[in-house]
Amino acid sequence: MSARIDDLLSRMTWAEKIGQLSIVFRPDPDDAAALVRKGLGSTFWPPSADATNALQRVAVEQTRLGIPLLVGLDVIHGQRTIAPIPLSQAAAFDPELVRALAHLAATEARSGGVTWTFSPMADVSRDPRWGRVSEGFGEDPWLTSLLVAAMVRGYQGDDLSAPDAIAATAKHFVGYGAGEGGRDYNGADLSERALRAVHLPPFEAAVRAGVASVMAAFTSVSGIPMHAHRHLLTEVLKQEWGFDGVIVGDAEGVANLVPHGVAEDLADAVRQAYAAGLDVEMGGSPLSLDAAEIAPGRLDPARVDDAVRRVLATKEALGLFENPYVDPTAEITTPDAASRTLVRAAAARGSVLLHNDGSLPLAAPRRLLLTGPYATSTDHLGAWVQYFGARAGSVADELRDRRPDLDILVEEGVDFLSPTDAGIAAAVRAAREVAVAVVLVGEPSALSGEAASRSDLRLPGRQEELIRAVAATGTPTVVVLVTGRPLVVAGWIDEVAAAVVVWHGGTEAPAAIVDLLLGDAEPSGRLPMSFPRSVGQIPIPYAHENTGRPASTGGTLTAEHHDVGLHGPGNVQDKYSSKYLDLPLGPQFSFGHGSGYARFSHGAPEVSASVFPAEGPDDETVTTVSIEVTNLADRRGDEVVQVYLRDVVASVTQPVRRLVGFARRTLDAGESATVSIALPREVFALWAEGWRVESGAFELHVGSTLATTQAIAVEAR
Ligand code: NOJ
Repeated sequence: MSARIDDLLSRMTWAEKIGQLSIVFRPDPDDAAALVRKGLGSTFWPPSADATNALQRVAVEQTRLGIPLLVGLDVIHGQRTIAPIPLSQAAAFDPELVRALAHLAATEARSGGVTWTFSPMADVSRDPRWGRVSEGFGEDPWLTSLLVAAMVRGYQGDDLSAPDAIAATAKHFVGYGAGEGGRDYNGADLSERALRAVHLPPFEAAVRAGVASVMAAFTSVSGIPMHAHRHLLTEVLKQEWGFDGVIVGDAEGVANLVPHGVAEDLADAVRQAYAAGLDVEMGGSPLSLDAAEIAPGRLDPARVDDAVRRVLATKEALGLFENPYVDPTAEITTPDAASRTLVRAAAARGSVLLHNDGSLPLAAPRRLLLTGPYATSTDHLGAWVQYFGARAGSVADELRDRRPDLDILVEEGVDFLSPTDAGIAAAVRAAREVAVAVVLVGEPSALSGEAASRSDLRLPGRQEELIRAVAATGTPTVVVLVTGRPLVVAGWIDEVAAAVVVWHGGTEAPAAIVDLLLGDAEPSGRLPMSFPRSVGQIPIPYAHENTGRPASTGGTLTAEHHDVGLHGPGNVQDKYSSKYLDLPLGPQFSFGHGSGYARFSHGAPEVSASVFPAEGPDDETVTTVSIEVTNLADRRGDEVVQVYLRDVVASVTQPVRRLVGFARRTLDAGESATVSIALPREVFALWAEGWRVESGAFELHVGSTLATTQAIAVEAR
């Protein structure tokens, strides 16, 4: 610990210490200055370089100790240049892309004086009803861990004091993505094993990547709200993993301990939160700086000193004691050409082709129809964007500008949510006059993100009717799906010629969508989260257990089968197995699903070693999987080779498959290449009162999607 921090701590009054332990939301400038004069240590971004400097000046020049402020903001997928939502970034299966996008966001944010972001979201979620899946990296703990670490590196770089670095926050620790029923803020009953195997790994990856802070979750885990969870905050995060950064609360999460029903009042809530290991309270209500709740004697002084040290160390690492101000003439307020190019390429890279009969890319030039609310909507930025993020345009305008030679009809058809179907007839008439109809549908940004759980995951409003009516004309119909979460697409997917998920793609989304339609870019993403067949099937993760009665066929319950006997409907085969009577097996589209515009064949997979020692260093490569991949198409394309693991016999039940490696490769038309993926010992480990590799047989499943993998056996001895 630095001499400066020791010195400051030795001179700080109790009130000055408490001031460092709070971050308040955007107060108006006069209130903010008054709070800072009283010792407030952190604030949300004011929001400009000038306003930030003005507030820093109060902290540095008008307080007794001159401690600079931490300036926080939710920079989630961009500050000015808005990148695709994190779920789309996950679909790109490309950690370097995630790093580069976070670095861009950090550069723009720091230029305006932001030093602390509340990102990445490290919550694994298998429930698309939860609106916040848009902010995360999907259902897989291993992929999420990899991308969380990449995002932390992108924000923080090697040196937090650099002008292109900000402190990152892994959130929401922990179990927030498991809220019962997918309802936001809801509790989760999580076993030690579920925590260790699914929910904790991405946070541990963030800590290993050097994340500066971790945010406590709103949720309760097995009855203990996370803001008061001493075991997880202190024993696991700080002691077991050695996390030496700041644990920040979520907005009013400390005050929320009262309605959670575990604290009598604010004083009790604050006491419990600090005893559990929280360092900074977010919101400001319980810690209003001279409140009786935090008078000396109410909190353990050693715990308070520890929390203050963590905050001051973060300020020191950010270089704020030397350099509290930013140069307002260097503030980046609009995207430049390079940032636009990066986020545009990212939007295509994270788009997932669900299904294609060859109608995409569109054969040009043609007369075509654009219909659906996203033909003209500019709502592409996603749920977590501040008002100063660079807006997107519309797909219709973009296509008209790019291709004045095309004959483009535009009919909105239906609105996002409106109950009226008055525009469908016009869209159908137009569809009859064109060679191809492009239906641009989806969820507006406000339907995903925080406090945006949905119980019905079909397209809202009458958008499904529009798709079906247009497809029924017989004109080839291509659907572009703009969404913040997996949706239920069963009502229309079989009727259309092609469908591509573009998520909320950010500032350059319309350009990227036009690139995909015209074939100037490839939708080369793979699903980071399964698309369910129906809401009743949720959760339907690909990494489910086999059960003692695995099903081999799905149910086929239909209306004709009213003849229900002792053992149920006669048409349901293999009845006493784990499935729904009324659904085929598995999700509509599984994790990992997707293909670009090219087509690939795979040779037989090989491993460098089929037997390896169970014991040894975690990060040691124990075997390398290789497979020859050939691009059979007449165009260049990207293949994402995926490696899944199955632990055949283990001391505790294991997922039928879980992702342990992947490689993305670009191959020219006709090109072949051998793709090799090294597997470290740790991916073979399971959690059973500790991580260990159990000796015995494993299967590796290698391929382009879960549906087409080839198996190869390996053994740990
Ligand atoms: C509440 C959200 O849960 C959290 O993710 C966010 O960082 C804070 N609000 C601050 O805006």
